[in-house]
Amino acid sequence: MAEETKIVMLDMDVEGISSLSVYEKHGGYAALKKVLGEMTPDEVTAEVKKSGLRGKGGAGFPAGVKWGFIPKDKGEKYLCVNADESEPGTFKDQAILEKMPHRMLEGAIIAGYAFGATHIFIYIRGEFWKEINIVQRVVDEAYEAGYLGKGILGSDYSVECTVHPGAGAYICGEETSLLESLEGRRAEPKMKPPFPAIEGLYDKPTIINNVETLATVPAIIERGADWHLSLGTEKSPGIKMFSVSGHVNKPGVYEIELGVNQLDFIETICGGVKGGRLKATIPGGSSVPVMPAANCDCPLSFEGLQDAGSMLGSAGFMVFNEHTDMVKVIEVISRFYAHESCGKCTVCREGTHWINMIINRILRGEGAMDDLVTLQDAADGMEMKSFCPLGDAAAWPVQSFLKHFRHEFIDYIEGRKKLVPKYEPVGAIGHHKLVKPAY
Ligand SMILES: Cc1cc2nc3c(=O)[nH]c(=O)nc-3n(C[C@H](O)[C@H](O)[C@H](O)COP(=O)(O)O)c2cc1C
Ligand code: SF4
Repeated sequence: MAEETKIVMLDMDVEGISSLSVYEKHGGYAALKKVLGEMTPDEVTAEVKKSGLRGKGGAGFPAGVKWGFIPKDKGEKYLCVNADESEPGTFKDQAILEKMPHRMLEGAIIAGYAFGATHIFIYIRGEFWKEINIVQRVVDEAYEAGYLGKGILGSDYSVECTVHPGAGAYICGEETSLLESLEGRRAEPKMKPPFPAIEGLYDKPTIINNVETLATVPAIIERGADWHLSLGTEKSPGIKMFSVSGHVNKPGVYEIELGVNQLDFIETICGGVKGGRLKATIPGGSSVPVMPAANCDCPLSFEGLQDAGSMLGSAGFMVFNEHTDMVKVIEVISRFYAHESCGKCTVCREGTHWINMIINRILRGEGAMDDLVTLQDAADGMEMKSFCPLGDAAAWPVQSFLKHFRHEFIDYIEGRKKLVPKYEPVGAIGHHKLVKPAY
C-alpha cells in the first residue's frame, strides 16, 4: 500500500517552522554546517551527483551533473532559484515557500558552495506576494545569523542573496526567459547554446534550479547519497512532491517515493476518486499528455509514466471522474497556452490561438470532422518545431486528448452533445479575439 515519505515536507506541520529558531531546533542548517566544516565543494557536487537527484521543475535533469558544468575558474557565478511556479495544477513549491522556506534556502547555499556561486537570486512568481514577504524575512534572518553574507559561519565561502518578484507570465519560469526577466527585459526565451552554465545571468556562469530540487539537498548531505539511492527506482531515485487536485476526496500536496503505483496513490493517499469512477489523469501538470483510466495502472516515476504514454513533468497531478467533459477540459488548457504564448515564434503564437478557436467552434456545435484534422496538424506543427518547450507543452495535451477522447469531440460535431453557453469577447491578444465560454 502506498504511503507518504516525508523528506522535504518533514516537520512542515510544526508550528512556526518557517522561522529560523524553530527550523534550527528541528535540525535546520546542520547540513550546511557539515558541508562548510567537512566537505570540499567538489565533494558536495560528487555526493549530489552520486545520489541521482533529478531536477524537480519539470525536465528531470540530474542536479549534480548540472552543477558540474560550471567552469572552475574564479569570478562571478550565480544561482537562480526558480520559484515561478505557474504550471496549471502545480502548487508544491508554494507550500515549500510558505512553510519550509529555510530548507530551500539551506539547499541553495549548499548548492552555491558546491559550484562557487557568488550571488543567489530567488525569483518568485509575482502573484505570490505572501510567499515573497516570507522568503524576504527568511533571507534577512539568515543574514543576521551568518548563513549568508561574507565568510559564512567563519568559513572562506561568501554569498549574497536577493529575492526578486516574477514578472507575471508563465514563460518567466522557462530558464532563459527567467534570466531575461531578472535582467529587466521582457521574458522571452533565448537561443541555447550558449547554455546558462557557461553564459547565463549578466553573461556569467549560472545555474537555475527548482525550489523543490534545492530543498531536497540538505537531506542528501545529512543522510548520504546511498540513502537517497535506496529510495525510489533505479532511474528515478528519491522522492517527489505531488500537487493533487480535481476529483479526489483528499486534494493537497503529498510527498512519496518515486515508483509508487498511480492507482494505489489515488486510492490510498488521495482518498479515492470523488463523484464516480476514474476517467483520466494528467499526472505532471497541464503540459503533459492525458492518461485514460485504462493506462493508469503504472508507476509514478519518470520512466513509468513515459512507458505509459505520459510524463512526470512538475507532478501537478489532476484527476478526472467519469462525468468530466474532456472537450471542455482541453478548451481550458488550450486557452491557457494561447494566453501564455510569448509570441516570439510563429508556430506557437499562431498555433495556440487557432487550436483554442477551433476547440471553441466544436463546443459551440459549429465544428466539422475536418476540424479534427486541422487540430492535429496545428499540434504536430508545434511539437519539436517551436523555439522553446512551451510549444511542445501546448501540443502534447491536444494530441493526447484527440487520441484518447476523440469520440467526445465527435459527439459535439455530430450534435449528440451541445452546449448553450454565452460567449463574449474579453479582449484581444495579437490579432485574434479571445472568447470566454460561460461554462
Ligand atoms: C514554459 C516553461 C515554464 C517553466 N516554469 C517553471 C517553473 O515555474 N518552475 C521551475 O522550476 N521550472 C520551470 N520550467 C523549467 C525550467 O526551464 C528549468 O528546467 C528548471 O527550473 C530547472 O530546474 P531543475 O533542474 O531543478 O528542475 C519551465 C519550463 C518551461 C518551458
Ligand atoms: S514556443 Fe511559444 S513561448 Fe516559446 S518562444 Fe515560441 S512563441 Fe514564445
